[in-house]
Amino acid sequence: MTRFDPVEVHAAWLPAEAFRAIGSRRVLLCGEGQLVETVAHEIEQACARYGGSWRQREPDEGGTDLGPGSDGDGSYELILGLTSAGSLPSAADAVVERGALGEEGFALARRDGLTAVVADEPAGLLYGLFHVVRLGEAAFAHSRPVELHRPAARLRMLDHWDNVDAHPVMGQVERGYSGGSIFWDDGVLRADFGRVRAYGRLLAACGINRVTVNNVNVHSTEAHLLTDRLGDVIAIADALRPYGIRVHLSVNFASPIALGDLPTADPLDPHVRSWWAETTRQVYESIPDFGGYVVKADSEGQPGPFAYGRTHAEGANLLADALAPFGGIVHWRAFVYNHRQDWRDRATDRARAAYDHFAPLDGQFRTNAILQVKYGPIDFQTREPVSPVIAAMPSTRLAVEFQVTQEYTGQQRHVCYLGPLWSEVLGFRPWGAEGSTVAQIAVASGGGLVAVSNVGDDPFWTGHPLAQANLYAFGRLAWDPQLDPIAVLDEWIDLTFQPFAGEGTGGAKLRGTLHAMMDESWRVYEQYTAPLGVGFMVRPGQHYGPDVDGYEYTPWGTYHFADRDGVGVDRTRASGTGFTGQYPQPWSDVYESVEQCPDELLLFFHHVAYNHVLRSGSTVIQHIYDTHFAGAQRAAEMRQAWEEIEPGGLVTPALYARVRDRLEEQVRSAQEWRDQINAYFLRKSGIGDAHQRRIY
Ligand code: GCU
Repeated sequence: MTRFDPVEVHAAWLPAEAFRAIGSRRVLLCGEGQLVETVAHEIEQACARYGGSWRQREPDEGGTDLGPGSDGDGSYELILGLTSAGSLPSAADAVVERGALGEEGFALARRDGLTAVVADEPAGLLYGLFHVVRLGEAAFAHSRPVELHRPAARLRMLDHWDNVDAHPVMGQVERGYSGGSIFWDDGVLRADFGRVRAYGRLLAACGINRVTVNNVNVHSTEAHLLTDRLGDVIAIADALRPYGIRVHLSVNFASPIALGDLPTADPLDPHVRSWWAETTRQVYESIPDFGGYVVKADSEGQPGPFAYGRTHAEGANLLADALAPFGGIVHWRAFVYNHRQDWRDRATDRARAAYDHFAPLDGQFRTNAILQVKYGPIDFQTREPVSPVIAAMPSTRLAVEFQVTQEYTGQQRHVCYLGPLWSEVLGFRPWGAEGSTVAQIAVASGGGLVAVSNVGDDPFWTGHPLAQANLYAFGRLAWDPQLDPIAVLDEWIDLTFQPFAGEGTGGAKLRGTLHAMMDESWRVYEQYTAPLGVGFMVRPGQHYGPDVDGYEYTPWGTYHFADRDGVGVDRTRASGTGFTGQYPQPWSDVYESVEQCPDELLLFFHHVAYNHVLRSGSTVIQHIYDTHFAGAQRAAEMRQAWEEIEPGGLVTPALYARVRDRLEEQVRSAQEWRDQINAYFLRKSGIGDAHQRRIY
């Protein structure tokens, strides 16, 4: 049986109390396998704490008839069983054909006082257990017809941007806002893996099944994780395996040179090919369920196939071929652009880059290669259009990449619940109302969803305690992209702040306060930062706080082109960079048209005068003033709402204080954004605020 170290950190969405409904019942578990043992351990702990009883039916006990609620030695209230474990309770077996649930699915039913969870495979049983945890008492309240639950995407992955060595500029975790890495501390693998196991458990409870352990920027020490430091990866894989999570590794494309002493990393060179094949074989010898490689190539200084005159399909296929014999996958990132462009050159458009590089390669990637595409064409901005690459490669497996770590959305100092952003992207239909959604494309292509993790060794996991909701929501939306993100937030509130149901616990008030603070927090953040989809306006390198012209004269390709007459980037076919032409209809024409373009993306696609009238009826300049005053005001209201919560009870004093401190910073920062953005545009345009509010 797997043993778990106690970990002195915040329990996030799995406090002991969340298991009360299970732990106070009579439970039978039927099945075997490592993940069934994990389920057994969870039930054992819960029953020990809450006075229930449990039994695991031995495989050689055969197919005793269990229904309804009895197997001869006492009646049960909850049965979790594999379809292979013999006869199952009548509450479930009527409609569940063996094999219908797949690798990770489960069925849940309740009849005659018995709740049953049935799965074909152990992973399904684990997800079923956590579903019962989510339901709590509701799982035992009334009869339920059989519900089938299967994940939409088979690949639901988190990428860690953790470094082994603390990087001189980026630190232990690149774009990490939650302390150090849970895996490494200054070059050394952590000795205590209690934290890693607790992490795996949290991920399983929200549906994640893959983790890439290291940064996509693979520096020299990290490159060795593939060979002589493979032991680190083995240890992480061992810790996460009991939760159904497979590990992946970011690798450096030039590894054959750096690690294999070869003179080249040319993907068509036979020695390079056999080096990757042999190195990969050795990885699988130690980690038979290893997931595969993640590659950032020819991007922001990382090496890639361009150096050898090869395409990115040739680069990706090299690794795909090495992984194929073992069932592994390569995630090849589409984040390829020229980060040394000349700001004077208005023809080069970073937004175009991924499509220009990859769309012509559609159909050339192996079936075990997945193109990993950031949701927007630039870089995880608060507001971007959906990347046109997602609709341009029907013969390629595509994964959509989100950023749970809040690099551009407040760095876990600001409350910014990202569920609504992801949900909007996942539900976007690139071919218009009749066509598929982004989620359907990612699922149908076999690519799935990926996100950059926001976790570190911080006692609250995510720096800002409310940022835990983002991690939870990503997992849940990857499992079912159609979930309402506000309902997901509610689940997270219920689980995290236990015991919620009891009278007089202050639960209703806390729930109301959290919804008031979080439901709209992404849009609030958008209001007080860069306006109308123009993006950036952040401090270079750091990506926090306002710096309107910070990137304007740099080589990074992220400009707003504000002058005395107007602002925005002309990406039209008629007079701009032609980026709108990368979209299919109807969006190609919608974005091209200054009248039809949605307000929130206007400055992404068009350069317009400050007195241009938006679809909302306001002018661009007045919209900038109004949203910045309103956004900063709403940040102040969030702080006010939190101050009305009593620490103690549902909200521990430590959590209360952490949130309060972060809100102080959010309010300060939002005011700074408001005043700098408003002052900048007043000075540029010379047009005053219609309401004569104070602008500096
Ligand atoms: C952003 C981020 C980098 C990161 C890059 C990536 O540009 O600032 O730190 O390496 O994205 O996704 O590769």
